[in-house]
Amino acid sequence: MKKIHVLFVCLGNICRSPAAEAVFNNIVKRKKLTDKFFVDSAGTAGHHEGEEADPRTVEHSRKRGFEVTSISRPFLSAVDFEKFDYVVAMDNANYDDLIEFDSRKKFVKKVYKIAQFCTTMTVKEVPDPYYGGPDSFELMLNILEDACQGLFEKISTDHRL
Ligand code: 4NP
Repeated sequence: MKKIHVLFVCLGNICRSPAAEAVFNNIVKRKKLTDKFFVDSAGTAGHHEGEEADPRTVEHSRKRGFEVTSISRPFLSAVDFEKFDYVVAMDNANYDDLIEFDSRKKFVKKVYKIAQFCTTMTVKEVPDPYYGGPDSFELMLNILEDACQGLFEKISTDHRL
């Protein structure tokens, strides 16, 4: 059976979306469903292409048991919209950029804002922690842990997992 393809998208693909990828992978692993998923992340901008995730993202995630291993890459409209079933934006600007990349509005239904899956945090987006302090990275992970659980439940329902 075809794997369920999930792509997390932020601006630089060095902070939020790599962390989301790690948090979501952790859930999938705990549910013993790794063979059913293909999970990746990308940035709407390619400035950090080829770089490892920001060390602050790696360290804060590691302390919670999430292993961040991704290498930054840009979102590729010509490939990623077709390939992925769920394209999940970290903030409203990422979402708007993705909708704009989808020039023929063929894939709008696949594009989500991650905060819509939160069940305990009352936030609309994952704020960019890049220019923030340690608290920004902790907030990022608090939101992502909540939202990724909600996203997993939505996907489980969609696919009767
Ligand atoms: P991310 O964070 O979008 O969560 O990866 C950022 C990383 C780098 C920059 C901005 C946001 N930057 O301006 O270089």
